[in-house]
Amino acid sequence: TTEELHERIRAAKAALGDRVVILGHFYQRDEIVQHADFLGDSFQLANAAQTVPNAETIVFCGVHFMAETADILAQQHQRVILPNLAAGCSMADMADSDSVEECWEQLEALYGTEPDAEGRAPIIPVTYMNSSAALKAFCGRHGGIVCTSSNAETVLEWAFERGQRVLFFPDQHLGRNTAKKMGVPLERMPMWNPRGPLGGNTAEQLLDARVVLWHGFCSVHKRFTVEQVERARAEHPGVRVIVHPECPMAVVDAADEAGSTDYIRRAVAAATEPTTFAIGTEVNMVNRLAAEFPQHEIFCLDPVVCPCSTMYRIHPGYLAWVLEGLVNGETHNVIEVPDAVAADARVALERMLASRP
Ligand code: 13P
Ligand code: SF4
Repeated sequence: TTEELHERIRAAKAALGDRVVILGHFYQRDEIVQHADFLGDSFQLANAAQTVPNAETIVFCGVHFMAETADILAQQHQRVILPNLAAGCSMADMADSDSVEECWEQLEALYGTEPDAEGRAPIIPVTYMNSSAALKAFCGRHGGIVCTSSNAETVLEWAFERGQRVLFFPDQHLGRNTAKKMGVPLERMPMWNPRGPLGGNTAEQLLDARVVLWHGFCSVHKRFTVEQVERARAEHPGVRVIVHPECPMAVVDAADEAGSTDYIRRAVAAATEPTTFAIGTEVNMVNRLAAEFPQHEIFCLDPVVCPCSTMYRIHPGYLAWVLEGLVNGETHNVIEVPDAVAADARVALERMLASRP
């Protein structure tokens, strides 16, 4: 039964003591969250992986790219375990190294490699955390940087100081929403679709670009619509609509606020008056907020359940299996980024960690 599973997890954790630390993303199901030592958004979890001093094993309850990042940032003697190796991210899969290298070659052929009079490179690559370690390494090698949804603006500022243009991947929506907020006009954000020459753009469009957007998206957040925002406003006068910046631009524009999972949490926690919140993000997190803050009315903008199916693949059965394995001296599902890739990726990640005000 489920209770037996939880009992097994608790017993294994107790036996392991501080040899193991469990990190969990806000989108994890409640049955996992209750066992996490630390819960956070992807930025906070990357920081946590770098700062857990004693644990020889980090069990990462999240998706593959997060576990890779933890392995890159953790110390040499620490290893990272992903309870279910099938927990990937469809958005991260939308940018593979070959297509990005191919895009980069075409852009370099068009822009050249010489800096302008202010010393700015023709283009700087910026990858969203939701990408493979190989792409973070690509950014490390080409003067680029990583961002998360909680620091995208700070990171883009960093990149605009050093580059005339930015190549932003994999999430077109986070890239577009953030650049638009910073005043970049839509005409200067062409989208790169790897299926056509020049990504389906003219040379003029690319020369005039400020941000070249990769065509990726999150299959969970792209489901949110302007109609849902309008319905929430009609049915709940005074509602506060907060969405994640992975939502399409029209949805972000229609909402009252947009921010990372941690931003959303803090906004709800900070509301002093009873408030109605319509939230545009993963449903496990929204339901947990609703249970945690009963003084507010909190619901998910999408009335049809909208979970991240890959986050959901971290089932308590897998958590029990990896923890009991550790108790018996067996390690399952270790995520190990090859040293050469990790070294370059670390450069891009550390630029991000240092760019935060
Ligand atoms: P944040 O944790 O940065 O808000 O990201 C949400 C997400 O989609 C993680 O996969
Ligand atoms: Fe990937 Fe979207 Fe799931 Fe985040 S919510 S892990 S971006 S599919």
